[in-house]
Amino acid sequence: MEQKEIRYKGSRISYLSRGEGQPVILVHGFGEDGTVWRSQLDALKDYHLIVPDLPGSGKSEMIGDMSLEAMADVLEALIRHELATIYFKEGDPGSVVMIGHSMGGYITLAFAEKYHHMLRGFGLFHSTAYADNEEKKQTRRKGIDFIRQHGGFEFLKSMVPNLYCDTTRAAMPQLLQEHLVAVSNFSGEALVNYYEAMIARPDRTAALKTWLPVFFMIGKKDTVVSPDDAIRQSHIPQSSYIHILERSAHMGMLEEPEETTRHLLKYLEYVVNAT
Ligand code: MLT
Repeated sequence: MEQKEIRYKGSRISYLSRGEGQPVILVHGFGEDGTVWRSQLDALKDYHLIVPDLPGSGKSEMIGDMSLEAMADVLEALIRHELATIYFKEGDPGSVVMIGHSMGGYITLAFAEKYHHMLRGFGLFHSTAYADNEEKKQTRRKGIDFIRQHGGFEFLKSMVPNLYCDTTRAAMPQLLQEHLVAVSNFSGEALVNYYEAMIARPDRTAALKTWLPVFFMIGKKDTVVSPDDAIRQSHIPQSSYIHILERSAHMGMLEEPEETTRHLLKYLEYVVNAT
């Protein structure tokens, strides 16, 4: 596992890279960094894994434009950089499988809209192609006010417990502790930027009208992305791989890591054999 970085319009963008084979990029969500995928990494040893910290998260610096579309452009630059010298002829962007967690899924959809030709498959992990409704936008605006008044960490301290279901919190309290330690220095400005970007995002169900195989991981107890919405959208692609994690809320990759990994591997195997 190698920690690498690129400079994107002057900002440092950090990512992990490991292995050879079909490139797979795992994109984290809001108030997290690439380490949320830590329980999946070893099992994906037969793939070329790319795990970025999004601009403003983990070891990556913010960029001037923090819209979801601009973050998709960062991923495009990163993929080109990482893959160009390894597998592909100059100018050939190659084809990756991109899996995005929640906000990472919104970025994955923005990527699929603009860079469809670079994808071999993609996945929404506790994520949705539907835009925010008015109530959700209002909740985010209140969140922005709170962050501006009290700072990013105070906000995350109140938000992060809701990402895990009761059973997880009781059985694995260390997950919550680790999450809070990981975000203790999170930039309030980055969190505000993410919320503004999420408020502004359009409906992207059109990006699901694709012949590429799409992966949907749904948390039955998720209170951030409604399981009903997540299921509703999964019928749009021509070919969908759908799994519902029965004992997870919004953090299935940590709440049910083995189950998550097993289904990711099955989906990847399907993508590689089908396309
Ligand atoms: C995330 O986990 O990325 C966010 O909670 C997504 C959201 O708020 O819609």
